[in-house]
Amino acid sequence: MCGIVGYVGDESAKEIIISGLKSLEYRGYDSAGIALNKDGKLLLRKESGVIGNLEKRIKKNDFDGNIGIGHTRWATHGAPIRENAHPHLSCDGRIAIVHNGIIENYMELKSWLIKNHNVEFKSETDSEVIAQLICVYYNGDLVDAVRKAVERMRGAYAIGAISADDEDRIVAVRKDAPLIAGIGKGCNYLASDIPALLKYTRDIYLIENGEIVVVSRGDIKIFDEDMTRVKREKMHVTWDAAAAEKGGYEHFMKKEIYEQPEAVNKTLEGRINAKGEVKLDGIKLTKKELDSISRIYIVACGTAYHAGMQGKELIENFARIPTETDLASEFRYRDPIIDENTLFICVSQSGETSDTIEAMREAKRRGARILSICNVVGSSITRESDDVLYTWAGPEIAVASTKAYTTQLVCFFLLALYMGKTRNTLPRKEYDRIVDELKKLPAKMSDVLGADDHVARLASKFAVREQIFYIGRGSDVGTAYEASLKLKEISYINSFAIAAGELKHGTIALINRGTLFVVLATQDRLYEKMLSNIEEIKARHAYVVGVAKKGNNRIRRISDDTIMIPECSDEVAPILAVVPMQLFAYHIAKLRKRDIDKPRNLAKSVTVE
Ligand code: F6R
Repeated sequence: MCGIVGYVGDESAKEIIISGLKSLEYRGYDSAGIALNKDGKLLLRKESGVIGNLEKRIKKNDFDGNIGIGHTRWATHGAPIRENAHPHLSCDGRIAIVHNGIIENYMELKSWLIKNHNVEFKSETDSEVIAQLICVYYNGDLVDAVRKAVERMRGAYAIGAISADDEDRIVAVRKDAPLIAGIGKGCNYLASDIPALLKYTRDIYLIENGEIVVVSRGDIKIFDEDMTRVKREKMHVTWDAAAAEKGGYEHFMKKEIYEQPEAVNKTLEGRINAKGEVKLDGIKLTKKELDSISRIYIVACGTAYHAGMQGKELIENFARIPTETDLASEFRYRDPIIDENTLFICVSQSGETSDTIEAMREAKRRGARILSICNVVGSSITRESDDVLYTWAGPEIAVASTKAYTTQLVCFFLLALYMGKTRNTLPRKEYDRIVDELKKLPAKMSDVLGADDHVARLASKFAVREQIFYIGRGSDVGTAYEASLKLKEISYINSFAIAAGELKHGTIALINRGTLFVVLATQDRLYEKMLSNIEEIKARHAYVVGVAKKGNNRIRRISDDTIMIPECSDEVAPILAVVPMQLFAYHIAKLRKRDIDKPRNLAKSVTVE
């Protein structure tokens, strides 16, 4: 999740842009940069790491101007190094761009630019293609060149561009990535997010998908795709800075829960082509190598471990390779059986979790090949892995993981499909069916979010409880574990998750009149068994909230309350079922007035043992 800031006016653009970029810190970043137009020349400064690094570099130099664009980068394509930071310049140094999003067909465009226009690329990013493309189409009219360039792009983007020939215009365009223009006095602004501008203006225009906006010091003009001028009402922002960072949500956790359809979409984007083939850019495993793998360990901590529980099922089902899921803190002190035919998959949002890193190093020492599923480009785990599959969830600020978890599940789907297809263990029809289910996920996730009010009402019934049980079978066990962890960490309620078949082997003794059970019954093949479990606990006077797919109505008759998720295949159900569980934990914690984004005793990244 990168950030964009632009300024044109009479003041020093660099001060305003740096201050704006700093306000976007919550989006996370690994590098930052600024391009200014000074007397018809584009000046460029960029640095990796924190914005302070960029600031220091700028202070040392004679670098100023009244128009410019800046960017904080959260790496997706290419390492988080200075060369890959934005802005990117065209070969002739006359066009500079900043870009948020992903250009899906950048490889195709890059080859075209190299072949037909002898373009020499300086970075590994998809974004540099934009600067070069605009330059190819530039004929003195930046708006026209930007339009022609975006016509050739597929993907999601918010782009800001300046040209050396024009000291009064920033041209920007958006598709599926946020973009706003800010109204100043004798100056105007551009940004990806409201917090970047709050220090300077509270009057903004929201730019819609497909629109081009031309920001000059005297005015802001918005055009639709056909270049017809659009009249837009200005919006006056009343949020304070903290609320604005959360995009109007009360907590980052809520915002991140709601970002899941987009995060899942991004994680899938560009990885399933038009023919339905899964293409994984960071995975170099060949058929020969895959065929030689005799055992897989999936190792992680906490929520990432729960994703690994689901990953085991997917890999075993699709690729038929024996797979074990293990806790990193246990694995590192075991004496695991590992050889050169072992694949070690580590799952980590941060890529910096100490136990996971040490478990990975131990596996590497013993000869395993390392594949990581991670959210942070350039993090320790990704640097030491042979293969990396990124969850493109964007930065997760709330300590309780939500969108990282669902995108980790999506990555396991992609990986298991890839393995199953390559090893010929997954029939084509099955493969196509799963791909189809995955494509429908973002819309179904939005649908599940529609249950928020219903879940909030349920939460208000149970917020005073001191104990909650979660049960399920098959993939619902992993969801039960994750639902229980979410509740524990943010509400501080004592909750417990268990495979439903295990209940009668001990835990059933804990049931009193009214004991609350959340029963996950989303697996069609195990539905009858779960109904029996409900009967069993109801007979002991427990209170049951049943979670099932729409259409499976018998659960409604025997449960006290229900949460229904959209119809879907058993395989993808965990990605949908966990969403109301996250909301349930969130609402209970809110009613108990907990510090939701920063629960007590917890850190976002556990870098110590
Ligand atoms: C729970 C949570 C933690 C992390 C765990 C691993 O909501 O976030 O359980 O999942 O600490 O962290 P990463 O994924 O960064 O390795």
